[in-house]
Amino acid sequence: MRDAEAVAYRLLHETGLLRPATKLLGSPALWRASGLLESAALFATGGSAGSIGEYVESMEKRWAPFDRWFTDAPRALDFGTGLGGNLLGLRGRLGTGLGIDLNPFYITRARRLAERYGARQLRFEAYDGVHLPFEGPYDVILCTGTFERLRKPAVAAYVRRLALALAPNGRFLAYFLTAGARAQGFGRLLGQESYVFWAEEELAELLRSSGLELEERIPRFPTSGDLLVMRRRSAGVRPGTDAVAVRGAPA
Ligand SMILES: C[S@@+](CC[C@H](N)C(=O)[O-])C[C@H]1O[C@@H](n2cnc3c(N)ncnc32)[C@H](O)[C@@H]1O
Repeated sequence: MRDAEAVAYRLLHETGLLRPATKLLGSPALWRASGLLESAALFATGGSAGSIGEYVESMEKRWAPFDRWFTDAPRALDFGTGLGGNLLGLRGRLGTGLGIDLNPFYITRARRLAERYGARQLRFEAYDGVHLPFEGPYDVILCTGTFERLRKPAVAAYVRRLALALAPNGRFLAYFLTAGARAQGFGRLLGQESYVFWAEEELAELLRSSGLELEERIPRFPTSGDLLVMRRRSAGVRPGTDAVAVRGAPA
């Protein structure tokens, strides 16, 4: 299937149709409509077509090396959940899971999948991008593949709000495209200007202003960018007043 996708990309690229096709895909109506068909929804949210079984299995594999974040049946929130793959992949390890997304069609599909997999502890909610449908606290907050297409001020607002929903000892696992991902050519086929890359100082400022500190950084996970593992800053430190270094940043 990946070969077929690569051939399709190349054909579009070589015929000069990739740009117009990308523009079309970026239209809100088409993005929403992608949730109407299972295969289109899988492609739009995961970047790859395949069967639902393969999709869920790939999500199980995605998180398998990171058991340490999911002990004690945590309460999890998945921001930009798409078809709910993160929560479905983790379903055996979560106490509860709430997945939220802008696209109501993805949410309908995520609910069906949860039912199909008997994951009764998972809930999925669509929202309008403004009125976030959660309260918290959450032991784990996940966000993969979502911030890469959102403008930086919007991401900063979401991160600040999500950080407030984090339990005192909770972890916020968020994926960002970094300069390294740009250098590796991430998004070149669609056009790198379609994506939002973060400089190290911008990430450091984002964490500082959100009252978060970096605990760990997983490079190139789940794709070319980095997963930042963040916690609430230690008690006594006022958000927005102290500098925080992003460990693992290139010198
Ligand atoms: C590329 S998909 C990633 C899906 C899933 N997190 C994953 O890693 O497979 C990005 C998702 O973010 C959602 N999204 C975009 N902007 C959002 C926002 N402001 N709030 C919530 N979800 C959003 C999209 O609808 C889409 O489902």
